[in-house]
Order: sequence, then structure tokens, then C-alpha cells
Amino acid sequence: MDRIIINGPCRLEGEVDISGAKNAIVAILPAAMLVDGVCRIENVPQISDVENICNILIAMGAKVNRAEGKTLEVDCSAVRCTEVPYEYARKFRASYYFLGALLGRFGNAKVALPGGCHLGARPIDQHIKAFEQLGAQVDILHGNVHCTAEKLEGDDIYLDMVSVGATINAMLAAVKADGLTVIENVAKEPHIVDVANFLNSMGANIRGAGTDVIKVQGVDRLLGGSYAVIPDQIEAGTFMAAAAATGGRVLVKNVIPKHMECISAKLEEMGVLIEEFDDSILVDATAPLKKANIKTMPYPGFPTDMQPQMATVMLRAEGTSKINEGVWDSRFKYTEELIRMGAEIAVAGKVATIEGGRQLLGAPVRACDLRAGAAMVIAGLMAQGTTTIEDIDHIRRGYERIVEKFASLGADIRLVLD
Ligand code: EPZ
Repeated sequence: MDRIIINGPCRLEGEVDISGAKNAIVAILPAAMLVDGVCRIENVPQISDVENICNILIAMGAKVNRAEGKTLEVDCSAVRCTEVPYEYARKFRASYYFLGALLGRFGNAKVALPGGCHLGARPIDQHIKAFEQLGAQVDILHGNVHCTAEKLEGDDIYLDMVSVGATINAMLAAVKADGLTVIENVAKEPHIVDVANFLNSMGANIRGAGTDVIKVQGVDRLLGGSYAVIPDQIEAGTFMAAAAATGGRVLVKNVIPKHMECISAKLEEMGVLIEEFDDSILVDATAPLKKANIKTMPYPGFPTDMQPQMATVMLRAEGTSKINEGVWDSRFKYTEELIRMGAEIAVAGKVATIEGGRQLLGAPVRACDLRAGAAMVIAGLMAQGTTTIEDIDHIRRGYERIVEKFASLGADIRLVLD
């Protein structure tokens, strides 16, 4: 079984470059289905979720060309297929973006119910509500979601809860619908804005992304163009947390500091020195850390996708810290792995109580999901002795060259392929 082996402890020092945003590109690639022409997409991260989506696009008849460096050229003009089968969809959550994109382009979509990280119940009722509001009929049969519409017509959509996926899917379905769609109570994450900017650069008319209300004026056609994906907020936050947890000093480069404020503010509260530059952030965590409390919330609140990584920072802080998970029902599975390494963590429902100041000891552990896997890497860097992380496919889904990046910061870390 492939694994990551870390010999700790280590103090991270140096500079690291952040890749393009996973949660933006996993929506932008399906969104390319709506475009008649070549989409040249720059700053694409080399992660397995991107490979999976490219395989889906190719299987459906798209041309996908990896141009120089991190640029992909995607041309979906010749696609006629409207179905994403189970063997592709089960591998990752974002396969549900093909529903909005195919419905928007063909008035027809059949996509297997999606897989992805196990974080508790992950319903898609709000995606379905949005499609139905635009005039689609939606049925779930034999594990597939079927959407059909003679014609999509713009309408008002009020989401019952703030959902990243439903917000993006509603935009995708509305881009070519007749007339104006007004989507209220939407998510405001940086990747929502990025998907809207991508679509606008291809000829869509979307306003308000990044606020509570998004207005989509339907257009007849989207033509090709060039677009560069934003830096990954969560990858950047992961390296900031890793610097903090190891008492290190790291310059995190190619970031948008504004997107990092929710994370920077919490680290500063804990005693980490943060210095912002135009497109980089210096994290200096050489001083002792103080305890803190976190409640995860939709952007601009503290991101749930940084919750496991921040738990490792709390393990270094003096005193008792608390995390209240406000987005997912079940996102503390990874704490069992940290406890195997000597951490003192008690979980009660959606609250984890973390005792700081215990020295972790290396142990064999699992990456339960993508961000839990990142937390295991950080814990391995903090721990005395050898940590072996299994089930690392989760990590590969969303972190580009994570082993090389940590090694360049001084970590004794290696990837073992079996
Ligand atoms: C996205 O998931 C991200 N995934 C997740 O990141 C992230 O944790 C999450 O947003 C929250 O920020 C991608 O972008 C591919 P939601 P998504 O719809 O869109 C409930 C990572 O580690 N809900 O915003 O699936 C839902 O149960 C991954 O990169 C409904 O009830 O999340 C949850 O409690 C993990 N009905 C809350 O809303 C719906 O129809 C937010 O979910 C939709 C959602």
C-alpha cells in the first residue's frame, strides 16, 4: 500500500509555492462543458481530482490537452454525451457539477450520486431545488440523478442553507437559461467567485458572486478564452498551520492574503506572527502558542476544511482549546488517529476539546479523508519518531506534490509506492 513516512520532530523553515485552488478547478472543468470553444485554463493543480475530471471529459468526447506547465486546454464543443457513470462519479464529490453543466448545455443530465470525503450526511436537496426552480424535472433512480428540461427559464432561487455546491450548480444551470436568475443566500467562498469569473471570461453574465445574492442573466453562447485559477486558500492555510504547529518560520508564496484573513487572524490570536505581502504571507511561530477556540462556518468564517489542520496547532498551544464544527455532522474521525499518537482530545457531538502541550509520538495512522490526511502529515512532523500514513489517495486528491513541498521546508518525509 502506498504510504508517506515521516521522521520527526522537525521545525519547518523556508519558502513554499501554493498551487491553484482545488475547489475552484473541480467546478471550472465541468463548467467548460458550457463553452463552445477552447478554454485555456492556467494554474491548474496536478492532483488526482483533476485527473479524474479530465478522464470524464475525455470519455464524454471533449478534447483535453495539457499545454506547457500548469495549463490545460479544454474543448467540449464536440461533446454529445450527457451521462457521467458511477465508476467516475463515485471517486469524488465534485462530479455533481456535471449535473448543472450538462443540464445547462443540453437540458439533460444523468450523473451517478457522488462520492467524496465522508463527513456525515451530504444531501444534494438544494442542488435539486435550484434545478427544479429553473424548470427541470429531477429524479433519482438506481443511484443516478436524472435532470431533464425542455427549456430552462430564469427564476428566483432561495437556498435554505449556505451551500458551496448548490450555489455553483445553480449558476451553471442558469448561465444559458432564458432571462434572469436571482440566487439568494448563496455561499461566498473565493472559489465561488473564481467559477463566476471563469464563466464571465467565457461570455457569461453573472454579477454579485462573493456577496449573498448572485444574479445570472442568461446568454445564448459561451465562447472560449483564457483564465487563471486562484491560489488554493486551504493548501496555503495547511502550510501556515504546519509552520505554526512545528514552531517554524515559512514564507507561503502565491497566495491572495485577503482570502487568508480568517486563518491568519486565528493564528495571530494564538501568538503566531503573521506578515502579509502583496502575494505572500510570512508565518513566524517561534514563540510559544496560546490556546484558542474555533467555530467553523461558511466564508468569511473559519473554514471547515482547515479544522483538522488547526487541531494540530492546538496540540502545540498551552492550555485547553475547543473546536466547534459548524458545517459537517461528522468531521472528527481523524482525532482517533491523533490520539494514537499521544494526543489528548475528547469529542462530544460537534465539539472537540484539545489539551495542548503533549509531545506526540510517531505511529502508524490513516488519512481518513483529504484534510484529515493533511493533519496527519503535520502531526507526523511534530511527533518524536516515525509516523507512517496509509490511505494517502485521499491526500493526492487535493494536494499537489505535498511530500516534495514539505521536504523543501526541511521535513524528513518520503513517499513509498508499493
Ligand atoms: C464543498 O463541499 C467543498 N467541496 C468541501 O471541501 C467543503 O468542506 C464544503 O464545501 C464547505 O465549505 C468542494 O468544493 C468540492 P456544502 P459541498 O454544499 O459543496 C449541507 C475539501 O476538503 N447541504 O457547502 O458538498 C451539507 O450537508 C472538501 O476540500 C445540504 O443540507 O458542501 C453541509 O452541512 C470536503 N443540502 C452544508 O450544507 C444540500 O443540498 C454545507 O455543504 C447541500 C448542502
